[in-house]
Amino acid sequence: MCGIVGYVGDRDAAPIIVDALVRLEYRGYDSAGVATIHEGKLYVAKDAGKLTEGGEPTELQRKLRSLPGKIGIGHTRWATHGDPNEVNAHPHVDCEERIAVVHNGIIENFMELREELESKGHRFVSDTDTEVVPHLIEEGMKEGKSFFEAFVEAVRKLEGSYAVAAICVDEPDVILAARKESPLVVGLGDGENFLASDIPAILPETNRVIPIDDGEIVVVRKEEVKILDANTLEDVTGSKEVQVVEEDPHKLERGGYPHFMLKEIHEQPEAVAKTLTLERERLFEMAEELVKGDYSRLCIVACGTSYHAGLGGKYATEMIARFPVDVQIASEFRYVTKNLVDEDTLVLAISQSGETADTLAAVREAKERGATTIALTNVVGSTITREVDHVIYTHAGFEKAVAATKTYTAQLAALYLLAVELGRHMGEITDSEAEEYLRELESVPEKLERILSWEMERELAVMGGRYKERPNWFFIGRGPGYPTAMEGALKLKEITYQHAEAYPAGELKHGPLALIEEGVPVVAVVQPGGVYEKMLANVEEVKARGATVISVADESDDIVEEHSDHVIRVPSITEEFSPIVYTVPLQVLAYYMSVARGIDPDYPRNLAKSVTVE
Ligand code: AGP
Repeated sequence: MCGIVGYVGDRDAAPIIVDALVRLEYRGYDSAGVATIHEGKLYVAKDAGKLTEGGEPTELQRKLRSLPGKIGIGHTRWATHGDPNEVNAHPHVDCEERIAVVHNGIIENFMELREELESKGHRFVSDTDTEVVPHLIEEGMKEGKSFFEAFVEAVRKLEGSYAVAAICVDEPDVILAARKESPLVVGLGDGENFLASDIPAILPETNRVIPIDDGEIVVVRKEEVKILDANTLEDVTGSKEVQVVEEDPHKLERGGYPHFMLKEIHEQPEAVAKTLTLERERLFEMAEELVKGDYSRLCIVACGTSYHAGLGGKYATEMIARFPVDVQIASEFRYVTKNLVDEDTLVLAISQSGETADTLAAVREAKERGATTIALTNVVGSTITREVDHVIYTHAGFEKAVAATKTYTAQLAALYLLAVELGRHMGEITDSEAEEYLRELESVPEKLERILSWEMERELAVMGGRYKERPNWFFIGRGPGYPTAMEGALKLKEITYQHAEAYPAGELKHGPLALIEEGVPVVAVVQPGGVYEKMLANVEEVKARGATVISVADESDDIVEEHSDHVIRVPSITEEFSPIVYTVPLQVLAYYMSVARGIDPDYPRNLAKSVTVE
């Protein structure tokens, strides 16, 4: 939700900031802007629109790049207060245009602050909450405070969430920044330093980063970075760890693929293989510890796709380890279910970004009630990793497309390992059964490679083009097929803008069957196993009412064809793990339908990759 960047050094700031903003565009892309200081003057350029279209720089990008100066801040926006237009785009400035501010988050008390500032004569031009910040700093400086003192005082008045950065022509060599509940990292260079919402934005420039914590203020100069406690102003720089990020910056590029989403879909075999290898030991130890800990319940909290991975984990854990798992949407958990949590509860929070506001809030609620907390995340050093008792990583590499793909299958891989080890430690499965399950998991990357073959992709692309104008879709499944249906429907709606609903197939006749008529597409997840016959009966139900049935089924299934208009065949996999294989063709289908509909799947409207507001 909005990305912020800062640069100070000896190079031209604007091109560096713009390149970082392009890498950050997954955080928001309805408008963008940059402010620089050059020869005692503040330069600001901003507008509605994206920085790239079809991989090419836009006019807006060219405009932002041309600003002069060796210091600057930039912003890419996902609108919360005010329409996405030029006036509401960041940076925002004070009355005299000497101070510029970029902000990610929501300032909850901005109305009061604005009224107070207006009564003192400050002129506001935008509908944003952010605009109060440059005016607060200006007011402090009018009272004789330095830029730093006025910034600190302004930050202390803000309620809500923020990662905020400011520059001022009176002190043209410093960027001031602060953080509360919105991500912020400092990047360390030689004779230059950087600020950004996320590490990937600055990774091609430096791999030495310091994540900033809540309640900290950062003073960034070209030769020096200082981190202070916002309350006491104590210098805490010495206590902060400099992280060296090993990720290859070239992996942040599209690498010949037309979109990041397609590239990331193709990276799934590697993401799953790495997660299975690198996280195995840690998950084994964790399973042992969990069994010793004698917890009465495991509660998974997550949002969106991560929630669907949680559901996949629930089915596997309940089927293999016979251990009850409760999966909660984080935004619901944080207000209601939290009351059922105590010291006997184990809370597993799943978040690829590690920054999702609702998931973080759920973790904090759980901790307050004494629960043991674990995070499953893809981002090293993300906020969630610093708040939980234990961390499990997916090793999917940086995921840029808004629609999660490789992080989802990597999350499932980690959850499946945990399910098998829990089952073994709890005595629900024997060692040889556990080994059999592990062998099955090890075969997943190769199975995904087969699904991602050129022939299969072409078949799905043709299907996407053929059905691209069907406005209402149903996805149905039973058992582990149900989370697959949910994830398939989410992918379709978020990047094709067609309406899609997922139902446990047994629920159809309790209402949604009334919507099935000639030509309504129904995607049926028909994995072999305990619910196979029942699923076939459900497929028949919709077929008899005229639905166009697209089944996802085992490659050896020769029955499902009679009941379906199309069959997407996938390699055999045990039912417990079926979501990790069956979801992948549905990602590919949604991708090609999106492209056929003329949509950029990497940047679906109204969405952002990392949802750092409630
Ligand atoms: C996935 O395609 C979505 N864009 C979204 O549902 C996402 O999974 C959700 O916002 C949770 O994000 P997280 O995993 O980073 O917490």
